[in-house]
Amino acid sequence: MVTMGWTMRLVMAPLLLGLTVVITGNLEDDSCVYEALSDTDAVLCKGLEVFYPELGNIGCMYIPDCNDYRQKITYWPQPKVKFPGAVEDATYILVMVDPDAPSKSFPKARFWRHWLVTDVKGTDMKKGKIQGQELSSYQPPSPPARTGFHRYQFFAYLQERKNISLLRKENMTRASWKMDGFLNRFHLREPEASTQFMTQNYQDSPDVQDRGRESSSPKNRLKQR
Ligand SMILES: *[C@@H]1O[C@H](CO)[C@@H](O)[C@H](O)[C@H]1NC(C)=O
Ligand SMILES: *[C@@H]1O[C@H](CO)[C@@H](O)[C@H](O)[C@H]1NC(C)=O
Repeated sequence: MVTMGWTMRLVMAPLLLGLTVVITGNLEDDSCVYEALSDTDAVLCKGLEVFYPELGNIGCMYIPDCNDYRQKITYWPQPKVKFPGAVEDATYILVMVDPDAPSKSFPKARFWRHWLVTDVKGTDMKKGKIQGQELSSYQPPSPPARTGFHRYQFFAYLQERKNISLLRKENMTRASWKMDGFLNRFHLREPEASTQFMTQNYQDSPDVQDRGRESSSPKNRLKQR
């Protein structure tokens, strides 16, 4: 019986494959594509790595549409953020923001503060273990539907003074954070390391390959059925 089942599957395989090709019109759609950010967006990729479960280091990539990754990332806990070049006895501040809130074309809530941790030890930064004073707890990327791709940016600053804090007003909301004001207040200039990744709402179905194009292209309509 086992052999029969196996033989049957062998016979069925090409049929099923053929069917898949007909439905999606493109075999490549079946694979999980990790696409790198464009050169413009890759400017920020300097020495930081961001690890989520299943995905691995997603720095400088689009979150792939496959395996529900774009949904899973909305509830996974905080990622490992690794700075291999960190100075072991230094102290760092980690910032995660979305400059594209609520959308890249109309970012009236820029910057959305997703995560802000101070007093991170260099030894921990090297390992990707983000612990310290959590001024804003980690909030996962959850881009609203039909707002396109959002950038999620990570910066590691050298912290030379103690007692970095948010103003009461800043602490009241994550939205519209004047990040420049914060950086100036504590004399933080260039980050020591940075990176970003991009994702969009998981219900917006286009593949990474279709980003930027209208989501009503014939191919997408076919796939949404
Ligand atoms: C406000 O401060 C508390 C305590 O530091 C922190 O846990 C919380 O995440 C902050 N809220 C925002 C919106 O940053
Ligand atoms: C740290 O800063 C806060 C807010 O600015 C202030 O209330 C507090 O007294 C400071 N703590 C130390 C130890 O300087």
